[in-house]
Amino acid sequence: MTTNFTYRLIAENDLTPDDHQRISGLLVKAFPNDVEIFSQASYCYSLPEYRLLIEGEQGVVIAHLDFERRMISVGGEEIYVAGVGEVATNPDYHRQGFGSKLMNKLTAILTDEFPVDYGILQCSDTNALFYGQVGWYRIHQPLHRLYQGEFATVADGDVMILPVRKTIDEWQSDAVIDLRGESW
Ligand SMILES: CC(C)(COP(=O)(O)OP(=O)(O)OC[C@H]1O[C@@H](n2cnc3c(N)ncnc32)[C@H](O)[C@@H]1OP(=O)(O)O)[C@@H](O)C(=O)NCCC(=O)NCCS
Repeated sequence: MTTNFTYRLIAENDLTPDDHQRISGLLVKAFPNDVEIFSQASYCYSLPEYRLLIEGEQGVVIAHLDFERRMISVGGEEIYVAGVGEVATNPDYHRQGFGSKLMNKLTAILTDEFPVDYGILQCSDTNALFYGQVGWYRIHQPLHRLYQGEFATVADGDVMILPVRKTIDEWQSDAVIDLRGESW
């Protein structure tokens, strides 16, 4: 169990080539089905605004996520979100609480530094268990987003949301979510 680790929040434009390389290295290990993508880029779909890292000794990236703030609409209502992507713990450090620590740090950042109405992400049912334990809610409703150069709607976007400034009861759970751009 690693006890020496630090959190680092870094703006996308401040990442060094070495940061990109170390993040890509983690994502290649964490997402074996997407090696082709992450061996060439340190993110997928929408360009992130910030990275949140947990780093260990000798600069090893233990865990990573990225987020971008955006005004989306849900049932025609303007909602300010932080779209979260590329959540991953280095497989050498799985099930040691780092993923949870990372998500809890994100909640603190979205509450104190970058207030948004909700966090939002997409994930499989398997990972929904993990996010559910750190305050995120599973929702099943249509999602409209830019995908491979075209806007299209899927019947169930496999979305999870984190209430920050607004509550779970204020979320319109029967409306179309329009991301007005790519997913994260
Ligand atoms: C999902 C992921 C980030 C979890 O990271 P982690 O550091 O291992 O998570 P934690 O140690 O904080 O786990 C907290 C709890 O979440 C649940 N959990 C974590 N991984 C899980 C898994 N693979 N299956 C089921 N539950 C899981 C467990 O309840 C766990 O508590 P426990 O270990 O006491 O049982 C990590 O498995 C990962 O990087 N997976 C590959 C990339 C990925 O799929 N990312 C999500 C994209 S949406």
